[in-house]
Amino acid sequence: KPQPRLPGRQDWSSWPHYQAADAGFRGYWYPVVFADQVGERPVRVKLLGEDIFVIRDGDRIRGMDNRCPHRGVPLSYGNKQFPGTISCVYHGWTFDLESGELKAAITDGPQSPICGKVTQPVYHVEERLGMVWIFVGDGEEPHPIDEQLPEELVDNAAVLGARIQPREGNWRFACENGYDEGHAKYLHRTALWRLFKAMPVWNTTKIVKRGRWIYRVQEEQFWDADFPGLGRWTGQAWYKMKPPKQTTNIGNTGSHRETNPVIAAQEFPGFASVSMPGVLRIAYPTFIHYEFYVPTDADNHLYVGVMANFEKGLRTLPFYGKYLGAIRWLFHGQFSGQDKWMVEVTDAPPEKLYRPDDALLQWRKLAEDTTEDRIDELAEKGITVPEPSA
Ligand code: FES
Repeated sequence: KPQPRLPGRQDWSSWPHYQAADAGFRGYWYPVVFADQVGERPVRVKLLGEDIFVIRDGDRIRGMDNRCPHRGVPLSYGNKQFPGTISCVYHGWTFDLESGELKAAITDGPQSPICGKVTQPVYHVEERLGMVWIFVGDGEEPHPIDEQLPEELVDNAAVLGARIQPREGNWRFACENGYDEGHAKYLHRTALWRLFKAMPVWNTTKIVKRGRWIYRVQEEQFWDADFPGLGRWTGQAWYKMKPPKQTTNIGNTGSHRETNPVIAAQEFPGFASVSMPGVLRIAYPTFIHYEFYVPTDADNHLYVGVMANFEKGLRTLPFYGKYLGAIRWLFHGQFSGQDKWMVEVTDAPPEKLYRPDDALLQWRKLAEDTTEDRIDELAEKGITVPEPSA
């Protein structure tokens, strides 16, 4: 199904930078592919509408603009004829993978005068969490990637279960869906994953900002409700799951299992949080689920789902079993597939929001404020970013 290109975008005019970010926010690191899928052959990726290839070069992975400046053939069809370089498949223009400099034009001989006069744009690339991350900016030096990763993933040992899946739909719909308060209780009521996690019919919520994250804090929770003139609704459509005796804002399971010390140390004010440039974090007592919504272009995104269990050695084995036996299929499969469906069919703006959508508004505000701060910082460095058009 073709995704509408956000008709009536003017309806988002309260958040002009967010509205303009069809193809994503620049100035961030994005995960694009599993690191073990990148070898000595180029791997083509599209990120924020930019055509890029990545390739392994010794102990580094390099990234380069994929369009050969000679006649526009994708460099990803080429290969390495000399160490540390890529040669275009068409006429053999050969670029240094680190600097982008044209080192040779094979079909014009060793003394080709074009050498040194052409430089192909290169990208900053890092490997983290078993994935390749690319920085897309406006010519600034990137911030260290560890400043952008969820803090608890930087220094703590963890075993990860991850899924990278290209999906239709604008990345903002995916991010808003992830942080959406209401859909988890209604859309996902039929997901098998809910066998492990009871959810109230509704709850009151407050949004708390801490650092670069905003958290959804569930306050009073209601496990059933009488709707005037309609009847009673429990949300337990096809199985009966008792509400937990105790509810917490970590995972909301009410489980008496011990919370993992790494997770406990974070003292998350709420179990669902979101940060720029579109990262969702859902904290359970024994693991954390992350979703990175990576803009491919205005109409497509990469869904990168990661479950992290902060254990090492033999203590990781139960998580391996749980991930491969259940989480991968129930959560990264069926549950997440319901989200995928909604992102494909969302058609907004225009939109008419209701009380639980405060989460969406706070996310847009975070994106807007953070982007204004970034533009100010770039201006101090003499880099001007075009203002979004009205
Ligand atoms: Fe790449 Fe000619 S198009 S070398």
